[in-house]
Amino acid sequence: MTEHIPRDFIELLLNRIELVDLVDSRVTLRKKTGSNFFACCPFHNEKSASFSVSQTKQFYYCFGCGAHGNAIDFLMQYDRLSFPEAIETLASQAGMEIPRTAAQRPEKKIAQQSLYETLEEAAKFYQNQLRQHAQASRVVEYLKHRGVSGEIAKTFEIGFAPPGWDHILQSAPAHKQQLFDAGMLIKKDDGGFYDRFRDRIMFPIRDRRGRVIGFGGRIIDQGEPKYLNSPETPIFQKGHELYGLFQALQAHRQLARVIVVEGYMDVIALFQNDITYAVATLGTATSSSHLERLFKHTSEIIFCFDGDQAGRSAAWRALQVTLPLMHDGVQVRFMFLPEGEDPDSLVRKEGKELFEQRMQKSLTISDYFFQTLATQTDMMSTDGRARFVKLATDLMKNLPEGIFQQMLMAELAKKVRMDVAQLQPTAESTTRPQQQPAASLRARPPSALRLAMTLLIQQPELAQLIKEPLPSLSIKGFDLFQRLVQQAQTTPELTTGSLLERWRGEEEEKLIAKLALWEHMIPENGIAQEFLGLIKNLHKMAYDQTIENLISKAAHSGLTSEEKQTLSELITNKK
Ligand code: UTP
Ligand code: MN
Repeated sequence: MTEHIPRDFIELLLNRIELVDLVDSRVTLRKKTGSNFFACCPFHNEKSASFSVSQTKQFYYCFGCGAHGNAIDFLMQYDRLSFPEAIETLASQAGMEIPRTAAQRPEKKIAQQSLYETLEEAAKFYQNQLRQHAQASRVVEYLKHRGVSGEIAKTFEIGFAPPGWDHILQSAPAHKQQLFDAGMLIKKDDGGFYDRFRDRIMFPIRDRRGRVIGFGGRIIDQGEPKYLNSPETPIFQKGHELYGLFQALQAHRQLARVIVVEGYMDVIALFQNDITYAVATLGTATSSSHLERLFKHTSEIIFCFDGDQAGRSAAWRALQVTLPLMHDGVQVRFMFLPEGEDPDSLVRKEGKELFEQRMQKSLTISDYFFQTLATQTDMMSTDGRARFVKLATDLMKNLPEGIFQQMLMAELAKKVRMDVAQLQPTAESTTRPQQQPAASLRARPPSALRLAMTLLIQQPELAQLIKEPLPSLSIKGFDLFQRLVQQAQTTPELTTGSLLERWRGEEEEKLIAKLALWEHMIPENGIAQEFLGLIKNLHKMAYDQTIENLISKAAHSGLTSEEKQTLSELITNKK
């Protein structure tokens, strides 16, 4: 999905999409003031409407939490799509086709799309078999015995792959190749195919956007292997996907927390007991891409492990994967179950309330961190304490700078009764003050350039008012201003939203976004005049700068006769 999408296309697309309609289809927008619509911000909890969408700018902004952007950003934030996914969504909404640059891409794309369709049909087929097949009652009995209600079976679209070699094959003979590519068939030596999943309870695995990407199949009752999973395919990578994430996102607009468990049936049993925020890795250890994905949707993760040795070592591995991702604002806990229990058995025994109490009481990541290290060292001896410090600081090197890192450092110092400074000589580098962009922006009186840039970003059409070429001026930010003017002059229909799009990922993006949000307080009907005044100002500054440069050069190294001429002209013209 990293193919290059031409910028022209993205711009065309942004022009075609009406941001107000797009936002309104997901967040009910209320009354209009000027060309702005308002709503309660979907990105943070609030009672008053701080979220505004500007029709003219094609740009949204929340005064409360600072969320902002164009239509692409909105889909990325609200639907939690990646950049290419957001563009795909907008393109299909606008009925536009994304031009692909690499010649082979389109074919591959089509083939992959139909893999999703093939698996969607396979899921329907298995679900129907659970209703219709002669042996289905055996499966239904088993599920009931495990406490799975009809409703939950429906939510998770549980199905039945009947015994036999070619049910899924016969369900879609025309799509044999796709079924094979999607991992549903196994190739025989003679070139024929047979069903991978036979006589199993089927759990479709959906990605976070709701597309079926694979299956897990459990043997009914006893047998080996207990679970069979789809192999890795072009659309299914186990190390990235989480079972249950789609259903959890369906159940919660905003996931306050997510509990990570081991098995399909754990997720389902928790859901059945009204803990609707569980996900499971697919028979693999928790990876950083699992966690990165989860942290896009929630700020609190609770890992749940068996109380046995295997559970303990899995937990320690999870901690090591988690440390580099402990950015400010995230919370991670470690929960250990009594021996012999898994979340499924425990929640059925104890129910939601007790289970959630266990979660509440589980170890914070820092408690778990220090407890585990303490069991590996003898804290009573000096040597032991030194080893403890060494183990801890080695692991802490992986932490991102921030509050958690400082907290852990302070905790360590307390534990071994040392100063933080002794532990980490460079501690002050981690405590440098956080910048507060909005405040610093307001505190400083705006320079002419800054204000001109702000007005231009907020109303790119102002560039059409500039009739003379811009002067050459050597002050910080002037070349950025020149580039912005040029962009706005060559694209008359440019909006704030599409202007920002051109700077996505660039160094200047943050500054431009900041200025896009800045409330400059100039009344609407005075903006054009103000802007022209500022441009005049810039010319004057350039003029003064040239004179100054020439005078200073005259003093240091003398001027050429041409320069002398220029200087005297400039000075006599000076008003
Ligand atoms: P468990 O053996 O803990 O299964 O495997 P479980 O979820 O408790 O299953 P039930 O309750 O007996 O039905 C945990 C996970 O490990 C993977 C599966 O993803 C399973 O959900 N696994 C397990 C396999 O991939 N293959 C196996 O044979 C067993
Ligand atoms: Mn189990």
